[in-house]
Parts: sequence; structure tokens; C-alpha cells
Amino acid sequence: YPAARHAELLLDWYDRHRRRLPWRALPGEQADPYRVWLSEVMLQQTTVQTVASYFVDFTTRWPKVGDLAAAPLDDLLARWAGLGYYARARNLHKCAQAVVARHGGVFPSDPEALRALPGIGDYTAAAIASIAFDVSAAVMDGNVERVIARLFTVEDPLPKSKPALKALTEMLTPLKRPGDYAQAMMDLGATICTPKRPACGLCPVRGHCAAWVAGTMERYPLKAPK
Ligand code: ADE
Repeated sequence: YPAARHAELLLDWYDRHRRRLPWRALPGEQADPYRVWLSEVMLQQTTVQTVASYFVDFTTRWPKVGDLAAAPLDDLLARWAGLGYYARARNLHKCAQAVVARHGGVFPSDPEALRALPGIGDYTAAAIASIAFDVSAAVMDGNVERVIARLFTVEDPLPKSKPALKALTEMLTPLKRPGDYAQAMMDLGATICTPKRPACGLCPVRGHCAAWVAGTMERYPLKAPK
């Protein structure tokens, strides 16, 4: 598989079509790890559209991780109302306090150190390391799983296929601009490589997509019966 060419085509598409989202840095600017972390936690069970206004509200009120750490938990929970899953909000507060206590208010760039923080799992650690620090870590969410399953016509169903999908994502993630690559895969999955009726005519990597070549896009990802 031509991984380098795939990344080049995808990044070129991202430069032209990236979604403007309030947590994204301007092109060429480094993303703030606090904003990346906050947005990724908010996005875990909530849509991009709903998160946008909450994100602006939180970052206006608490511009730095230290501000969030110092906020009364009740204020944070009140502002979280509507996002659901209050355990996430409690972990958010704990994590902000741990960043202050363990790291002097500066997010670490190492995925292992990130994963040791409250509420940060594999996905969030990889997202922060790649988007905020340009560490080449593979970021896999539901959108990315679908894109990869189609590119490689992965015949094993989810969730069994997860390790194989992760390995393929690792193989494809470039050393340069890994954070933009991850967000390009998310945008591709959200806007073009959609679950139903994908817009393959607009896809920058359809020439490398086994499902497109076979005309079987909607078959993937296969899912084990519940
Ligand atoms: N979903 C989760 N994280 C995202 C991000 N950084 N950009 C767009 N959609 C996302």
C-alpha cells in the first residue's frame, strides 16, 4: 500500500477542505494542548455541533488548565449540563488538577505520561500527543475505523477487527504532520466516507481504496451481531 502517497493526498485535501472548528489552531500554528484535551473529552459522546458552543463557553471562562483546576467543581458541573455523562466532567476537573500538581500546569507531550492522567485513555492520549505536539501516534475513533476498514476491505467484524485496524492506522500515520493527518481522517469520515452513501467522487484517496475499486463501500466496517 502506498502509505506516503496516501498521507500526501489526504493532507493536501485537508489543507483545502478542513472544517473550521473552534478548538483547531490556525493553519501553521501550534495547537494548545489544553484546548485539544478539552475538545477531545467533550467530543467523546457528543457531536461536533453540540460541543462547539460548550467549548467556547469553557475556554472563555477558563482560558488555561490552571483556571479550570481552580474552579469550584459545582461551577464546572453546571456549565457541563447538557453534555451528559457527568463522570466525564468530574474526571475533567481531576485531570486539570493533576496537570497542575504533577506537571506544573503544562501538559506532557509523552503519550505514556498523558495516559497516566485521570480520564485520559489510549484515544485521548494519542489525539493530544499528535495534534498538540506532532508526535506520530495513531489516532483511531469510529470515523477512522470506517475509513480504514474500507481502504483495506477488512473482512473481520468489529470489535474483533480493532487491533488490525489500529495496526493499519499506525502504518499509515506519517512522521510529518501526524495531528493534521488524524484530523484529516476524522473529517474525511465525517464528511465524505460517511456510513451511508459515501461521496466517493469527492474522496482524495479513492484510487487507493479497495472497497471503492470493488464497489462495496457500504459493506464496511462489518459488525458482529449484538
Ligand atoms: N472528533 C473527535 N475529535 C475531533 C477533532 N479533533 N476534529 C473533528 N472531529 C473530532
